[in-house]
Amino acid sequence: MTFTALDLARLRTFAGALARDVGTHVRELRETGAAVAETKSSRTDVVTAADHEAEQLIVSALRAERPADGILGEEGASTQGETGITWVVDPIDGTVNYLYGLPGYAVSIAATITGGGPGTMADGRRTVAAAVYVPSSDELFTAQDGGGATLNGRPIRVSQASELSLALVATGFGYTAQRRTEQAEVVRQLIPRVRDIRRLGAAATDLCHLAAGRLDAYYERGLQPWDYAAGALIAREAGAVLLGRTHDAVAGEPLLIAGPPALAAQLQLAVGQAYEAYERDAPQP
Ligand code: IPD
Ligand code: CA
Ligand code: CA
Repeated sequence: MTFTALDLARLRTFAGALARDVGTHVRELRETGAAVAETKSSRTDVVTAADHEAEQLIVSALRAERPADGILGEEGASTQGETGITWVVDPIDGTVNYLYGLPGYAVSIAATITGGGPGTMADGRRTVAAAVYVPSSDELFTAQDGGGATLNGRPIRVSQASELSLALVATGFGYTAQRRTEQAEVVRQLIPRVRDIRRLGAAATDLCHLAAGRLDAYYERGLQPWDYAAGALIAREAGAVLLGRTHDAVAGEPLLIAGPPALAAQLQLAVGQAYEAYERDAPQP
């Protein structure tokens, strides 16, 4: 499937306006508080009413404006579609931040296609246009394939960091005790080798901070497509490379490593060594 730059620009503008509208609504909802509506993979993996409402708003807008496209939303939206485009949506990325009234949660919307090519992610999809809106700072990050990344309309670029020992590295943790035990062990091995570690609470926002040069690199194991679909394109279009555990692409791998090329390669090696040590030494179930 081929798209002109104009097609992609339209998808990008649409995603950006929608992310901003929904994010603004979600921020207003937060003014009266937020409560856990249900839990998912563990008791710490929460969903609020605002997550559902935001997804509903996004789905309604997509059905109205792009009725033949597919939709995959974290909170259950799933439509096949006929155009080859599937919108991958995280209505609130960073729900725990949202619940506690912390900044940095985001609305993440990505137009994806299948069929391979540069930037194809672990689920076989490739994002061609993307928007992440961070309501707490009123920041809209957008990108389109081959068309660069912007923050509130201005071009952004990854940092020039090239030395792992001086890199500010962000990561995230999953919701199960087993995944967290492994992730904590990897962080333990990594932290003496980097400038510092940040755990800010929203993968989409982490990838946008990386794109804007506010972080030098990012890695996380166990992300779902809606966590990274938009942010990964924004990071890539800002100059980041996206790596898996051992390959130059993330195909088939659940570990995402992102950063400026020279740094990402060093982080890939260091994270790979940390996982190898963990897998060698961890008690087998
Ligand atoms: C989570 C956030 C978090 C990351 C987790 C994600 P959610 O998404 O992006 O930063 O570490 O892996 O599941 O649950 O807030 O949408
Ligand atoms: Ca998420
Ligand atoms: Ca979410």
